[in-house]
Amino acid sequence: MPPGPSAPQDEWAPPLGATLDRMGLAHVIAPDVAPERADYIVYAPDSGLQDFTPFTRARAVLSLWAGVEAIVANPTLTMPLARMVGGGLTEGMVEWVTGHVLRHHLGMDRHIVNPDNDWTLRPPPLAAERRVTVLGLGALGSAVAQALARIGFNVSGWSRRPKQMPGISCYSGDTGLAEALRDAEFVILLLPGTRATENTLNRDTLALLARGAFVLNPGRGPLIDDAALITALDEGQVAHATLDVFRREPLPQDHPFWGHPGVTVTPHVASHTRPHLGAEVIAENIRRSEAGAPLLHLVDRSAGY
Ligand SMILES: NC(=O)c1ccc[n+]([C@@H]2O[C@H](COP(=O)([O-])OP(=O)(O)OC[C@H]3O[C@@H](n4cnc5c(N)ncnc54)[C@H](OP(=O)(O)O)[C@@H]3O)[C@@H](O)[C@H]2O)c1
Repeated sequence: MPPGPSAPQDEWAPPLGATLDRMGLAHVIAPDVAPERADYIVYAPDSGLQDFTPFTRARAVLSLWAGVEAIVANPTLTMPLARMVGGGLTEGMVEWVTGHVLRHHLGMDRHIVNPDNDWTLRPPPLAAERRVTVLGLGALGSAVAQALARIGFNVSGWSRRPKQMPGISCYSGDTGLAEALRDAEFVILLLPGTRATENTLNRDTLALLARGAFVLNPGRGPLIDDAALITALDEGQVAHATLDVFRREPLPQDHPFWGHPGVTVTPHVASHTRPHLGAEVIAENIRRSEAGAPLLHLVDRSAGY
């Protein structure tokens, strides 16, 4: 377990050790174990670890994060790579997206900051009258789409391969993107950061949305062409963008997103792996590996996610 800001040894070692104990798996969890003696690498992408060559006997890299763009193309990584699915990530993302969608859907800002004590009655539409599109129908996107559909929103989704999900209009592939976005009033980006997904929201695709749409990006910064988004905001094509992820993080102080009245910046807080839950996912994969069973949540390195 290499040290890193998001995976301090004292936060992860106790729950992981307790779970491995419960599974009857003998272990030593250490940040500074000699690389050639490590059987598994529990990996945080911000740990700084880049060279996997010295880990000659490691059987797998088990990432604590869902997004793997920092490691997926690493040529020194020759062992299987599993990413985090579960561990509290899904619940956290559903809560963040639902909260920010409802903020805009209900027009909450108008009432929270109301210096003139305005009493104009402007009831919001019902959720069923709102078209919401979720780009990415994986572990997080599918849970978000289903949660919004349960509230009553009219939900569409888009994925690389065709999918069927009860209550969701599903589109896929390059041709499906325009259909998924056309007239959408909310767009939620939950795609991985890959070469194929860069600038998915650009001048042309933003123009497909309903005028005055809301954009939520808890996926990855490069999914959006920043300049095109600012133009769309300035022209009223997009009413508001709530952004959790950016091309550079922390978002530089002089970035126009900070001061733009149509942008809410949240500092990559949409969803985090919780050690007491994530430990179960990591330990289960170690148990499987030791038993010769296939690992869960393996990354498809040719697809990049
Ligand atoms: N802000 C945060 O705090 C936070 C926290 C966790 C995760 N994230 C981000 O959320 C992303 C999604 O996580 P996840 O666990 O849901 O990932 P996932 O299970 O791998 O799902 C990814 C989805 O994107 C689709 N996709 C990938 N490439 C595509 C393409 N070229 N065209 C159309 N669809 C494409 C996939 O299609 P298929 O279904 O056909 O494969 C899949 O539906 C992560 O990669 C990470 O960047 C952010």
